[in-house]
Amino acid sequence: MEDYFTGSFIEKKREFKRFLEQLIKIIPFLADQEGDIVNLHSARVALLASSLASEVLESNESLVFLAALYHDIGAVGSSVHPARVINMAEYFVDPWLSTHPIRSSQVLRKVGFMKPASNIVLEHHEWYNGGGFPFKKKASEILPEAQALRVVDTFDSIMLLTGNSNMSLKMMERTSSREYDEDLFLIFKHFVKANDIEFLWFEPEETLNITLDFIGKLKLSIDDADVFELLKVFDLKKHPANGHTKRVRDLVSLVCAEVGYIPADSLVRAVFVHEMYTLYEPFKGSYMGSVLRKELIENFSLVFQAITDLEEDPFVNEIIRAACYLDKKLYLNFAEMSIRDIVSTISQLNGRINPEILLALKKVLEEHGRAIYKEKITDTHWANG
Ligand SMILES: [Fe+2]
Ligand SMILES: [Fe+2]
Ligand SMILES: [Fe+2]
Repeated sequence: MEDYFTGSFIEKKREFKRFLEQLIKIIPFLADQEGDIVNLHSARVALLASSLASEVLESNESLVFLAALYHDIGAVGSSVHPARVINMAEYFVDPWLSTHPIRSSQVLRKVGFMKPASNIVLEHHEWYNGGGFPFKKKASEILPEAQALRVVDTFDSIMLLTGNSNMSLKMMERTSSREYDEDLFLIFKHFVKANDIEFLWFEPEETLNITLDFIGKLKLSIDDADVFELLKVFDLKKHPANGHTKRVRDLVSLVCAEVGYIPADSLVRAVFVHEMYTLYEPFKGSYMGSVLRKELIENFSLVFQAITDLEEDPFVNEIIRAACYLDKKLYLNFAEMSIRDIVSTISQLNGRINPEILLALKKVLEEHGRAIYKEKITDTHWANG
């Protein structure tokens, strides 16, 4: 009996914390997914930018590492992955792409341990001559760390194209005086020549391991609110009102309590991962520098378990899909609704999911819909719908 009240409860809490930590760490990798592969752009940029900035700018290595690791998360959902974009004009074909530095930075600003890095991220596409975006800042207006990030970011894009560091540096020279501080570019050229870095593209498993080691040494203090903020990058483009994953978590935990016999832990964990699938199309060119999504996930045992539960446990899958569908419907169809409208949306699931779950979901909406959807509800004077 004693075991039940002490050991098991505390162990469960610890394990959930470990799960959240794994999520925080896997998010930047899963934001680099193109179909079934993870291109490791953010990992390489993080390793190179942090070592460049700490060597030549005396910057805080971990801070630049974090900024670089999460720099493109706001681009999730764009037509192409930002690392596949070579010309400035291509960024403006898709507004989601040309605004991604702002979105990345907005998300990161709300995450405690990422706040200091968010300003670097905001400026990672500014050019030294003022020709960049989004603010057309120039020269010393741009944070030095953001300039270091810019150089490495471009280098990775071109390496993915050429696979050759000398050729990549040559290609960068064409725009170098406009895009970077001249001294910084010279130092970077020296840095590339003096260090053996091509393996980062040719041995992606090694790149992954080194990056995971680096992340493992960082002291991140996190909670589930931070995780939900970061997960918004997967919600943002698909769902008009962000916060989808969090609302689905709320719905699902309440349904679970209502039905009684479902293992709440695995269900809730599966909710956290249910939108962590990329929106980037599979890339049609070379997969150099990439690892398989499957191989990546195996490094994160608890996330791996949650994804397996979601994909293979029909019960978990059905409940989450139902709540996910419902939440999307509510935000796609109406600007504002009454609690009665919200509850009646359930009828669209009739015949598609287990009636018992449907009934529980209805009850949850009647009792808690007002709290979960408080931003959508107009008839605040109404009692219980
Ligand atoms: Fe970017
Ligand atoms: Fe990038
Ligand atoms: Fe969803």
